[in-house]
Amino acid sequence: MRIWRHITIALIGVFSLEHSSVSSAQEISQLLRDEFKRPTVITFPDNAPYSPQVATLGKMLFFDPRLSGTQNMSCTTCHNPSFGWETPVEKAIGTKNVALDRHAPTVLNLYEAPQFFWDGRAKTLEEQAEGPITHPKEMGANFPDLIARLEQIEEYQYWFGMIFPEAGITKSNILTAIATFERTLISGWSAFDDWIAGDENAISNSAKRGFDIFTGKAGCSNCHSGWNFTDHQLHDIGLETEDLGGGIFAPDDQSRQHTFKTPTLRNITDRAPFMHHGDLLTLRDVIAHYETGGIQRPSRSKLIKDVKFTNQEVEDLISFMATLTEPNPNIKAPSLPPR
Ligand code: HEC
Ligand code: HEC
Repeated sequence: MRIWRHITIALIGVFSLEHSSVSSAQEISQLLRDEFKRPTVITFPDNAPYSPQVATLGKMLFFDPRLSGTQNMSCTTCHNPSFGWETPVEKAIGTKNVALDRHAPTVLNLYEAPQFFWDGRAKTLEEQAEGPITHPKEMGANFPDLIARLEQIEEYQYWFGMIFPEAGITKSNILTAIATFERTLISGWSAFDDWIAGDENAISNSAKRGFDIFTGKAGCSNCHSGWNFTDHQLHDIGLETEDLGGGIFAPDDQSRQHTFKTPTLRNITDRAPFMHHGDLLTLRDVIAHYETGGIQRPSRSKLIKDVKFTNQEVEDLISFMATLTEPNPNIKAPSLPPR
């Protein structure tokens, strides 16, 4: 049995920061606390405001294999809640049983992102969601057939009719519902959040040292910044890869070659293997990569620091990253409309 993970928007609770005025060697500064504190609200775009009905419909669509051409594959096939909303293989397998070109990224904490896909080619979650549905190697569907198929399903007729009384089942309404659901996907409260909220015993001394290295000499937080541990921007971190990433759209701009979007580090221990190619299997491999600094090429980010770690420091960084994972998440699968 798979453990489905349960998240709710209420998990982004409001915590008082009163305890932080006490200072000791191991306490972090108020400045850092403010920088890494979770937000208390999810922001929705003006043209796609939150509605529980729309999000519930979007959840059904996200889990429904009838969205694919061969009706064997849903968004969760590759963005599986049991694996941090990813797939635990280097390259996810699409509907034609062929591997895709890139590793499936998580869909957690994307509500605040200004661009999507590893190369940033989609600007909204709505625009993004069209890609996998229609891509021949992913879900291989087309919208006219998909809409006709959903119209045959009485419960979808009911839901779309209730929520979008004017237009009913349309491409735009399908994409709006999926995107609205995705904006509610937030990683749950973790030990790190308890620590930031003032509980000094929430994480180990090793993890505290790891945070110090992460935000200090290793410069990781130059890019993995804020509560979500990402700046949502594209960088070349010097990985060996044929993939040009953001460079595909700027062939003449040397600085954009091999650039990929910084992933969140929330729930990172659920989400191996790592990187756009899925070639790094463990967090230890990731740290070893940053220690070499990767390939020196004109596009490699100046924010990558030349650092060496002791064995203890590697352990500390890993202990710290592990505190970002929510314990026992439990996502309930929706019941899908019958035929
Ligand atoms: C066959 C596997 C597969 C399926 C099915 C799939 N995806 Fe993906 N998804 C991927 C891969 C691989 C990427 C990265 C592609 C890239 O960057 O070029 C991705 C990227 C994304 C992203 C971008 C994340 C980010 O950080 O920018 C979102 C959002 C997303 N998918 C949502 C969906 C939705 C919604 C569906 C269903 C309609 C879906 N995916 C179906 C494999 C899949
Ligand atoms: C220059 C910005 C930058 C810096 C500095 C940086 N990262 Fe990254 N990080 C990225 C980007 C971009 C990726 C994705 C790269 C790719 O797939 O090509 C990434 C990927 C990762 C991943 C894999 C995430 C996943 O979902 O696959 C981990 C873990 C990680 N970084 C940890 C660290 C640690 C630890 C440090 C410090 C030692 C660090 N990063 C420093 C930008 C950065």
